[in-house]
Amino acid sequence: MDKLQITGKAILTGSISVSGSKNAALPIMIASLLSENGLYLKNLPALQDILTMKKLLENFGIKIKKINSQTFFDSTNINNSLADYDLVRKMRASILLLGPLIARFKKAKISLPGGCAIGTRPIDIHLNGLEKLGVKFSIENGFVSADVKKNLTGAHIKLSFPSVGATENIMMAASKAKGETIIENAAREPEIEDLAKCLNKMGAKIAGAGTTKIIIEGVKKLSKSEHTIMSDRIVAGTYVIAAVMLNSEFIIKKIKPDLLSTPLEVLQNMGAKLEIGNDSIKVLPSSGIKGIALKTKPYPGFPTDLQAQIMALMSVAKGNSQIKEMIFENRFMHVSELNRLGARIKTKKDVAYIEGGRSLKGAKVMASDLRASVSLVLAGLYAEGKTTINRLYHLDRGYEKIEETLGKCGPIITRLK
Ligand code: UD1
Repeated sequence: MDKLQITGKAILTGSISVSGSKNAALPIMIASLLSENGLYLKNLPALQDILTMKKLLENFGIKIKKINSQTFFDSTNINNSLADYDLVRKMRASILLLGPLIARFKKAKISLPGGCAIGTRPIDIHLNGLEKLGVKFSIENGFVSADVKKNLTGAHIKLSFPSVGATENIMMAASKAKGETIIENAAREPEIEDLAKCLNKMGAKIAGAGTTKIIIEGVKKLSKSEHTIMSDRIVAGTYVIAAVMLNSEFIIKKIKPDLLSTPLEVLQNMGAKLEIGNDSIKVLPSSGIKGIALKTKPYPGFPTDLQAQIMALMSVAKGNSQIKEMIFENRFMHVSELNRLGARIKTKKDVAYIEGGRSLKGAKVMASDLRASVSLVLAGLYAEGKTTINRLYHLDRGYEKIEETLGKCGPIITRLK
C-alpha cells in the first residue's frame, strides 16, 4: 500500500491551477445514463474516484472514449445489470445511480454504497424523495431494489435536510418524470448547479438550482450534449489554507473565489492576507494567524469538506479555536492523528477544542478519510522533520497526485510503494 513521505518546514512558491471538481464530476458522469445517445465531458480530474465511477458506468454498458480534451460517455446501448459490489462499496456517490436508472428502466437494484467512513450516512432522504415520484423500494441483503409501476410522476418534495446527494438524485429522476417536480429545502451547493446546467444542455428543464427551491419540468428524452466540469472549490480551499499555514506567497488559479466566500472570510478574520481576483486567489505572508470559532454548515456556510484542513491551521494559530461539526457525525477521525504530530485537540460530541500555538513534529500517521488525509499533509508540511502518511488511497480519491502537484511548488513529498 502506498505511503507519502513529507519533509517538513516547507514553503510554497509560485502558483497552482486547480483541476475539475470531483463532487461535480461524479453526478454528472452518472447523468450520462439519462442521455439516449451520450455525453461529452471536459475537465474531468485525474482521480481514483473518477476511475472507479468510469468502471461502474461501464458495468451498465456505457462506452467511454477519450477524444482530445473530451471524454465521451456513449450511452446508446445501456443495460440495467447489477452494479459490481466492490465498486459500489468504494464510493458513496454510487447511490446517485438510482434516480437515472429508474428514469431509464423503471427499475434498479444496487448494493448499499460505501465511501468515506464518516458517520452512518443513511440514504433515507434519497429514498423518501424518489418515493414521492412514485418509486417503491425494498431493502434486502444489503441491496436497494426500486421499481416504478407506470411512469415517474412529478411531485412536491420537501427535504428534511438539504442533502447534496438526495437533491441531485431527485433532480435527475424528476428531469424525466411526467409533469412538474418542486424540491424544497434543496441543497444549494455549486456542484448541484453544475449538474443542473449539464442536464439542461441535455434537454432537461430545471430552474432554481443553487437556491433552496428547484423546479423541474419533466421531459420525455434527454440527448447528446457537452459540458465542462467546474473547478474544485474544496481543492482550491485546501491549497489556500496550506499557503496560509506555511506563511507563503502563493497563487491559486483557475477557480471561482465567490464559491469560497465563507472560508475566505474565516481565513481573513484569522489574519490571513489574501488578494482575491476574478479567477485566482493570492496568499501573502501575514504577521500572525489567530484562532477562531466556527461551525460547518451546508453551502454557503463553512464546508465540512474543509473542516479537517482548517483544524490543522488552527493548531498552529495563536490562541485557541473551536469547531462544531454540523453536517456529519464522527468526522473527527483526523484529531488523533493530528495530535500524534503534536497538536492538542480534544473533542466532545460534535465540538472540537483546538489549542493553538503548537509546534508540530513529524511522525508516522494514518489517513482515515479523504479530507482527514489532506489535513495530515498540511500538518506534515508545517512540522519539523519527516512525516509518513499511511493508507494513501484515501488521498488519491480526491487530490490529483499531490506529491507532484505540490512538489512543483517547493515541498519535498515522496510516494513510497
Ligand atoms: C456530498 C459530498 C461530500 C460532502 C457532503 C456535504 C459528493 C460526492 N460528496 O456528500 O464531499 O462532504 O456532500 O457537503 O458530492 N443524510 C441523511 N440521509 C440521507 C442523505 C444524507 O441523513 O438520505 C445526512 C448524511 O448522513 C450527512 C448529511 O445528511 O450527515 C449530509 O449528507 P449529504 O449532503 O447527502 O452528503 P453527500 O451527498 O453524501
